Amino acid sequence: DLSPADQAKYVAAKRAVELVEDGMKLGLGTGSTAAWMVRCLAQRVKAEGLRIQGVPTSTRTADLARELGLEVVTLDQAGHLDITIDGTDEFDSALNLIKGGGGALLQEKIVASASDRMIVIADFDKHVPQLGKFPLPVEVLGFGLASSRDHIARLLADHGLAGCDITTRKQGDAPFVTDEGNFILDLHLAQIPDAPALAIALNQVPGVVENGLFIDICDRVILGASDGRIEEHVR
Ligand code: A5P
Repeated sequence: DLSPADQAKYVAAKRAVELVEDGMKLGLGTGSTAAWMVRCLAQRVKAEGLRIQGVPTSTRTADLARELGLEVVTLDQAGHLDITIDGTDEFDSALNLIKGGGGALLQEKIVASASDRMIVIADFDKHVPQLGKFPLPVEVLGFGLASSRDHIARLLADHGLAGCDITTRKQGDAPFVTDEGNFILDLHLAQIPDAPALAIALNQVPGVVENGLFIDICDRVILGASDGRIEEHVR
């Protein structure tokens, strides 16, 4: 008895997990869609006795994977990964992404980049003509946070995005702290005319650890709908 939203996520997750083969090392994404993938994967591993190692992209995903009996290893233990399967907050027609709505963008980007293939699973609403409606998460060090934020504001102005709101992500009354002990600035840009250029520029700012733009990393997007319909986009 899944809600239509969960049904759509489940459909996409199940299809992605069909691509998994015995002996593979997998990156395990973070978020509600990726959680369905972990459940579908655990089911297949149990039913078929597959030997799979998983590298989680957050403590949340690590907890879920262990709870469901999957073998969890670190990225350094795994070495190279065959496939990472993860959700996204937005994707465009070039399969560039905005990720980090769940705050796990740093580990997600490292793990996806260490994988032969990154497969994104999502519902149809995540497809946008241009990235930027979803606030762009940027992970920054706590040291000099206000300076980093001012620096980013000046950089945005240089990129034709002057006056955009930048908010520090909160968890209740306190700032949200990432798995790596950093903070998240959410950039309310509305539109990003040149995402590849902005992704490079943001990472030049001292104090910025990583940004949520995934450029040329995703190879395939699998979209699921609540009625069981599936659509695939390949780069
Ligand atoms: C986590 O940091 C994010 O990148 C998630 O992958 C993204 O927020 C998608 O989450 P949902 O599947 O819950 O929409």
